[in-house]
Amino acid sequence: MADAGLNFSLMVMSPAFKSCYNRHEYTIVKFMTVNIRSFISQDTANVISLWRACDLTRPWNDPNKDIQRKLKVADNLFLVAESGAQIVGSVMGGYDGHRGWINYLAVDPSHRKLGLGRSLMLEVEKRLLEQGCPKINLQVRATNTAVIDFYESIGFSDDEVRSFGKRLIPDN
Ligand SMILES: CC(C)(COP(=O)(O)OP(=O)(O)OC[C@H]1O[C@@H](n2cnc3c(N)ncnc32)[C@H](O)[C@@H]1OP(=O)(O)O)[C@@H](O)C(=O)NCCC(=O)NCCS
Repeated sequence: MADAGLNFSLMVMSPAFKSCYNRHEYTIVKFMTVNIRSFISQDTANVISLWRACDLTRPWNDPNKDIQRKLKVADNLFLVAESGAQIVGSVMGGYDGHRGWINYLAVDPSHRKLGLGRSLMLEVEKRLLEQGCPKINLQVRATNTAVIDFYESIGFSDDEVRSFGKRLIPDN
């Protein structure tokens, strides 16, 4: 399905692209075009690989079932970032009519700190706003302290609530 997503270019300077010429060291700059668009079912295997690489899968959540359930909602809030043929990022947004929700935000470890996480969040925020969503909530696992600075740097703050859950359908 064609998608009015977001296209942008990233400039990557990596030691992997360093070369030597006349005793001087040059950094070769790599330009990378990234397209943020809605998820399509053909992305399934690549997205699950990305989630595994980002340590987002858990034994009690079957990622295939999570994706199948999300596709039934068809809310245009499940996004991927692709660079060439590679899926390098994802975010699964949702809107329940009161709050927007963020799940499965992931950027491939080799593409982090380039602004991709922020760009995925900006695109899903834009789409939530278009649907009239007044506020976004998200949950961070207690063990995932590394991500707190990221969320604060893109404008989120700690709501200081306890999060409760109740499983209705066991995946395994
Ligand atoms: C969290 C995550 C999506 C961030 O993606 P990213 O593409 O590296 O983030 P960005 O490059 O857009 O960073 C945006 C800002 O956050 C900061 N930031 C990103 N990761 C950070 C970290 N681990 N610690 C501190 N700051 C961080 C960046 O420096 C940048 O700040 P700046 O604009 O002031 O320079 C990525 O680290 C990831 O996939 N983590 C594993 C999965 C995960 O934990 N997902 C969230 C589940 S709740």
